[in-house]
Amino acid sequence: MQRWLVAAALAGATCGAQAQGQVNVICSVQAEWCNTMATVYSKTTGVKVNITQKGSGEALAQLNAEKANPKTDLWFGGTGDTHLQAAEMGLTLEYKSPLLKDLYPWAVRQAEDAKFRTVGVYLGPLGFGFNNELLAKKKASAPTSWADLLKPEFKGEIQMANPASSGTAYTVIATLVQIMGEDKAFDYLRALNKNISTYTRSGTAPVKAVARGETMVSISFVHDVTTEAVQGFPVGSSTPSEGTGAEIGSMSIVKFGPNTDNAKKFYEWALTPGGQQFGLAAKQFQLPSNKHVPKDPRVVDPAKIKLINYDYAKYGASAERRRLISKWEKDVQDAR
Ligand code: G6P
Repeated sequence: MQRWLVAAALAGATCGAQAQGQVNVICSVQAEWCNTMATVYSKTTGVKVNITQKGSGEALAQLNAEKANPKTDLWFGGTGDTHLQAAEMGLTLEYKSPLLKDLYPWAVRQAEDAKFRTVGVYLGPLGFGFNNELLAKKKASAPTSWADLLKPEFKGEIQMANPASSGTAYTVIATLVQIMGEDKAFDYLRALNKNISTYTRSGTAPVKAVARGETMVSISFVHDVTTEAVQGFPVGSSTPSEGTGAEIGSMSIVKFGPNTDNAKKFYEWALTPGGQQFGLAAKQFQLPSNKHVPKDPRVVDPAKIKLINYDYAKYGASAERRRLISKWEKDVQDAR
């Protein structure tokens, strides 16, 4: 269901917005961040920002469905594999920002891999979220490896998302394939199936269930666990000892959108340190792609965890992504 949120609440901003036009944004980060950016941008520029919130896979599906008559101008956030696929499908516009020189190499490489039809806006490693109170009650130790998730004490106690709708979950599958090799990764996913209570639509639903005490463990981006922890929920996080993958959250301008000039302006703003600070302001703890954003101790330092050498181009290619997702649906989901 589409949920259009008109961000400019103040009368003054609304008048300005009418004068300056609008920009239609599909936003694939958490709602707090989307809404903060929309409100601030509207107030400061007078451009009305219409936000539709969608998971990464769903956003890609919508852009593809709109292809003949795009309604969207810009796609902000969500895992990079889906943005690479959108680029390959010809849905997004080639655009080279003058700010590329201020971005970390991983964000620039993402742009290069897409022939400049996307760009990296944040990085976030994958790991586990867990509810400390539920673990203590069951006298279970927090998982610290992929292997730990198969332990009997976690039967029916783990949630992850569905990779067709969620980029978080696709990152899990692509990470495991890169760590274990495809056959062993699918054996692992079938074994893990027994401990999974539900595959959610959204990538952040599992950690929210952990925070509320509905399930013991989630497979999540670590920064999404931090968001729950700073709100006072009894949650902790770990990254797997065998190694883990990371997302390069991305941003793309839609080809033939109705407000392309406004999309380019929003895009430029979203790459500045000023624009990127609103993630943190909205309690989102990904690593921003602009090198000049001040560091925050709550943001995971990628150098301090065992990150695999993730092949973004390979696992963001349309054919590979589609193949792995349908294999997961057939071999894992349908086997439930
Ligand atoms: C959350 C995370 C983002 C991530 C997104 C993916 O919002 O904070 O870093 O890109 O989820 O969402 P999805 O539903 O596609 O897994």
